[in-house]
Formats: sequence, structure tokens, C-alpha cells
Amino acid sequence: MRHVVVLGSGAAGLAAALGAARAGAEVTLAYPGEGIDASPGSTQLAQGGIAAALGPGDSPEAHALDTVAAGAGLVDKRAAEHLARRGAGEVEALLAAGFPADPGLSLEAAHRVARIVHAGGDRTGAALHRFLAGRVLEEPRIRHAPGTRLRSLVLRDGTVAGLDTADGTRLTGDAVVLATGGYCGVYPRSTGAPGAIGTGIVAAARAGALLADMEFVQFHPTVLEGTGHLISEAVRGAGAHLVDGEGRRFLFDTDPRGELAPRDVVSAGVCRALDAGPVWLDARHVPDLPGAFPGITARLAEAGIDWTRQLVPVAPAAHYSMGGVVTDLSGRTTLPGLYAVGEVARTGVRGANRLASNSLLEALVFGAAAGEASASAGEWVAPAVSGEFLDVALPGPGPDGDARDAIAAGLGVERTGEGIVRTLAALDGPGGDAASIGRLMAAAAQSRTESRGAHRRLDHPDTDPAQARPILLRATEGVTTC
Ligand code: SIN
Repeated sequence: MRHVVVLGSGAAGLAAALGAARAGAEVTLAYPGEGIDASPGSTQLAQGGIAAALGPGDSPEAHALDTVAAGAGLVDKRAAEHLARRGAGEVEALLAAGFPADPGLSLEAAHRVARIVHAGGDRTGAALHRFLAGRVLEEPRIRHAPGTRLRSLVLRDGTVAGLDTADGTRLTGDAVVLATGGYCGVYPRSTGAPGAIGTGIVAAARAGALLADMEFVQFHPTVLEGTGHLISEAVRGAGAHLVDGEGRRFLFDTDPRGELAPRDVVSAGVCRALDAGPVWLDARHVPDLPGAFPGITARLAEAGIDWTRQLVPVAPAAHYSMGGVVTDLSGRTTLPGLYAVGEVARTGVRGANRLASNSLLEALVFGAAAGEASASAGEWVAPAVSGEFLDVALPGPGPDGDARDAIAAGLGVERTGEGIVRTLAALDGPGGDAASIGRLMAAAAQSRTESRGAHRRLDHPDTDPAQARPILLRATEGVTTC
């Protein structure tokens, strides 16, 4: 019987563990906390819902087309079609199994029809996590390895055969599924799990796996100023306005869609307005804020803000990382024995700009597929890739240097070549995962001399059709040899 090690207990890790167990494998599910619930990740924080083509007048083809359009020329069409088609089935199965969804489907920016499933209003991620965790705890083939922190992957004859942990133990298996999350935690302010600093991406790169799209980070425009507390796009969808100190809806100066323009456009507009003074979210006229958005209402109340009567100060913050370990539709990486799912992976469905509410769906679809694939032995066919290749020297492993400020300074919502060079110079000294991620991001951002999706270069404001290809990264120095 195959033994699969799944590292990470967010939606993608739980879906992978369930997929592998149902396909007949023995599974070790490893995570950093004492239990699944004590390992808080970005899934539990997700306020947006799960996109799925279930409603009348919708189809997986239409969902795939919206996914491709949002990704600004870099989405892999085949991956988007797979996500939309298998995703509709996965969500139908989830609902049939009793997932406590709210009634109806809602609409979000860049979706042509209402196709978002929510649960608990703005607490869909937490509801999905609870639901999947319950199923995992009932599955006898899944053993738990709490308190596991990844140090490096173990290679045997060029194949991943396990992982070494930070406390010096080793977990071995026939396959490893990485579900360790993304890298928004390398910014001083992010809406996801603060520990998400790309540890799995760095470990995979050091072991020889190929990465892509590292220059693309989605910044969410409405985050409570000075914090990482997200105020969902659904609030603007329900009619809230963004205003400057004079109460003016300034976003219409640059885009007729105003507050409902794509996320990168709104974030850039808010950034520029912040140069002149505070920016406020005005939701006072939106009916039943506490009923529709209970989580946000509670969080704002803790900060002393009653948003039914007061304006909310907001600023953009890092929200979702588009880049990661290159995979195929089954989560297979370029390294035999290694699968990657969830935000750690670069599946091809996000391109330069992930479509809202596709991430929980991606975790379900690619998590289940990777779990199933990892349960069967067979010839390893690596994902087919083409694009521009960059070799990047990673600093050696070590304690995390203070890379965050350098990353925020040169790799924010708007970038320049000079700023990126300064960030690269500042990251020359520190070792550790955040500095490694910063170097990978900066190398790709420097090479992409255009603006596309979430990558906005003030010195190259136009999109260059000749650069509509991914930037693929390989680690050179700092590579682990086992
Ligand atoms: C939000 O609720 O605004 C975020 C949704 C998402 O990023 O998918």
C-alpha cells in the first residue's frame, strides 16, 4: 500500500488527504499546530466564497472564460476549463454531503453571472475548513503528525521520499503533497496567515522544483488601515463606496466601473489617493451589515468602529500570491514524488490575476486530484512548461532576516526597476525563507518589463504582447543535496 505524506491542513491539504485515503493510500497528515484547528491558515480567514458554475444560465465554459479573462493573458486555458468543470462537480458533491451553504448564489467582480456559494455570510473559509476537518477526523486511513514544521525535502535517487522537520525528525513516504500556503506573509501587512512566508515554495525550489509567476501578488484594496483585517469585496458588491477626505468617490476618475473595477485597478487607485490623505470605506447606507457580514462587523467592533454609523479607514494589503511550484492538473510538480496544491502551487489557473472566489475551489479540485494521483504508483510525467527561464541564487537556509520592509518597498502595488534593484540589494545579506521568496519575486519582477495584471511597473506602464508568457524560476545556489 502506498504511503502519502500531506503537509498542511488548510482546505487543499485536507482535500488531498481525503483524496489519497479514498484512493486506498495510508496518509500521514502533518501540520504545525497541536491539532487541525490549532494550525490556523489562510483558508479559515477566507471571507469570499466558492465559485462554481451551478446556477441557471451558467456553465463551466463561461466560468473558464471569466477565469482566463481575469488572468490578463497568462492563464492556462486547459487548467481553467478543468477547474470550472471538475469544480462544479466537487461543489455539487459538497452541497449534497450537507455543507451548510447560505441560500442562493452571489455575484462578484469579473464574474459574468451569480456563481458564488457562501456559508455563514462572510465566514465561508471557516465553514469549509470545519466541514472538511470533520471528514478527515472520521477517516481511519489518515494518521496525524501535529507539531510538524518543514525544514527541507528528502530526495532519494532524484525522487522526493519524505521531509525533514525543523525539530530534527524525518517523515518518509512514497509521495509528498505540499499544501503549505503562499507567500503574502513576507509583507508587513497581509490578509492571510502571518506564517505564510513561502516555506514550501523555498523547500521545493532548493530540492530542484521549477517555480513560476512569482512576480504576481494580488493586493486587496479594502483592508482596515494599519492591520491585516480584510473587508470583503462583497461589501462593495452590496453598494459600499470608497471616498477621499472630501467624501468624493475618486475611483471614477480613472475607471467607469468605480468601486467594482478589477482588484488591481482599485488597489492602485486607493494607493494613489492615500498619497493625499486617508481613504474611507463608506458602507453606512448598505442594509443589514451585521446580518450580511457578521465576521467583519465583529472585527470592526473590536477596533472600536461601528460601520453602520462610521466610515472605515482602509488601505491595500497583500492578499493572495499567484506564483508558486509549477504543477500539472493532478498537482504533479517537475520533481518526481512531489505534488503541490493550494496557494503553494502554480497550477496555471491564476495567471497574472486570480479571479475572486476561485481559490477555495482550486483547493478542492486540485487537492482531491493530487490526493488521488499520489495514491497510485506509475511513471512520473512532469508538467510540460514553456516560457522565459531565470536562474536565481537563494541565500542559504537560516533564521529569517528582516526582509519584509525591503519587499514592501520594492514589490508593492506599484513598482519601478530602480525600486526592485534596491530590494534585491537589501536582500543580499539575510538568509531564510522570506529573503529567498523576496529574491525570487524581485528577479521575476525585474525581468517583466511591462505592466500586466497585478504586476504594475510605473516605468513600463503598458502591457507588452511579446511578454505574454510565464517567467519560470530555478534555484541555483542554496540548493539542498541529500
Ligand atoms: C474578498 O472577500 O474580498 C476576497 C475574496 C477572494 O479573494 O476570493
